[in-house]
Amino acid sequence: MKSFRIIIADDEPTIRLILKELLIKEGYEVEEAANGEEAILALRNAPFNLAILDYRMPKMDGMEALRQIKKIDPSVAVVMITAHGNTDVAMEAIREGAYDYFPKPFDNKEIVFVVKRVKERQELLKKIERLESQLRHEHKRFDKIVGASSKMQEVFALIRKVATNDVTVLICGESGTGKELVASAIHYQSYRRKKPFIKVSCVAIPETLLESEMFGHEKGSFTGAYQLKPGKFEMAQEGTLFLDEIGDMPLSLQPKLLRVIQERELERVGGTKTIKVDIRLIAATGKDLAECVKNQTFREDLYFRLNVIPIYLPPLRERRDDIPLILEHFIIYYNQKLGKQITSWDQDFMKAVMDYSWPGNVRELENIIQRAIILSSGDKLTVDLLPPNIHTEPAMPDLAAIADDFSVPMPERIQAISDKLEEQMIRHALKKANFRRQETADILGISRKSLHNKMEKYNLFDKDNLVDEKE
Ligand SMILES: Nc1ncnc2c1ncn2[C@@H]1O[C@H](COP(=O)(O)OP(=O)(O)OP(=O)(O)O)[C@@H](O)[C@H]1O
Ligand SMILES: [Mg+2]
Repeated sequence: MKSFRIIIADDEPTIRLILKELLIKEGYEVEEAANGEEAILALRNAPFNLAILDYRMPKMDGMEALRQIKKIDPSVAVVMITAHGNTDVAMEAIREGAYDYFPKPFDNKEIVFVVKRVKERQELLKKIERLESQLRHEHKRFDKIVGASSKMQEVFALIRKVATNDVTVLICGESGTGKELVASAIHYQSYRRKKPFIKVSCVAIPETLLESEMFGHEKGSFTGAYQLKPGKFEMAQEGTLFLDEIGDMPLSLQPKLLRVIQERELERVGGTKTIKVDIRLIAATGKDLAECVKNQTFREDLYFRLNVIPIYLPPLRERRDDIPLILEHFIIYYNQKLGKQITSWDQDFMKAVMDYSWPGNVRELENIIQRAIILSSGDKLTVDLLPPNIHTEPAMPDLAAIADDFSVPMPERIQAISDKLEEQMIRHALKKANFRRQETADILGISRKSLHNKMEKYNLFDKDNLVDEKE
């Protein structure tokens, strides 16, 4: 059982002692404070479930302490001790957010009863929170992954195949292509679906925190480790652990992860007890992990362990035939969510959406549809509802039209198509590299000089401020 922590603030040491002994006997963890100020200090240092505050105390009285506690952490329950017959104070305390009060002199049984009720209520709240989050995930399960393109059909087939067994899956793809959606789809189609689906994001967390986040820590294992904390591996027991942005995992943590994957057991930070873990692993990355291995930022042995079944999510610009379907999907969703009645779109809207390069993939498309629906006043989506950068982006040239223009000799047509394609590739690469020249040249696999010449040829230096000198 997880410990239930109580702080007792009273200026009379005997009262503190009586209460402390009584509550420790009931199995609670109890600390003391001689006034409100001390209680607040203790609370800032470590979490408590319940604060029992005497109303009359020097330095900071119970009412002020109550207000401050509610500001610091509203989930801490507060019970006020009042002088006998002082119902005004009791009522005020309740109004300020206290859970209950008991008048002095108090009855031991009553105290034990109130504390038990606070504990049960907090457990209930936690349970509701868990159920709600489960429900959100359930919702995700039915949240369709939309895609009619052959590339997405291949992805769906792979999901169905891997869902039924326990293999480790590595999902790769640019930002916003649906990596997390696919990970949860695999979990909810697997036999582990009724068990937790837990995500760890390996990015933007300091290394030591990430270690304790994944593997948990024992009480007192480092400054700030006030309580035993189980890690995400333990929380995912019998379910699925989703390691997001695995390419960003610090090199120093990788051996420990590798060991846990191989041995299926771990020790918490600062602990010696070995804990067995039974989980399915899914990792995702926007980075090219093979490249990271080459650059020695990712261990090769770990890469092989994770890359058992790779699933690659193609960027949206490579499966444009999915766009109308995704559009419909989000229109239905946001109509309902925002109380709107969009039923169609005009041609210009569709053309702009089909032509745009979607560097942010489905997430960007979703955001833009949501924005357009919010801004719309009628029942039709029109091109003016799109952000300017989308409808001013030059359209992908109609190559078929050039090819079919029999008035032009074939070699010239081929040259024209080749030039158009080259120009388009450079535009995309420039955007992808955020207009940094060297990076663009690297993406394209050409020299910087050659990139410069081509930018000159296609006049890409000043067009709509497309290229600014960032270097
Ligand atoms: N094929 C799809 N059909 C419907 N919705 C999708 C699809 N792909 C992505 N989405 C939606 O796009 C958003 C982004 O998806 P998700 O978070 O899974 O992407 P990601 O690849 O994990 O992105 P990032 O790398 O930025 O974390 C989510 O709201 C998701 O529901
Ligand atoms: Mg993601």
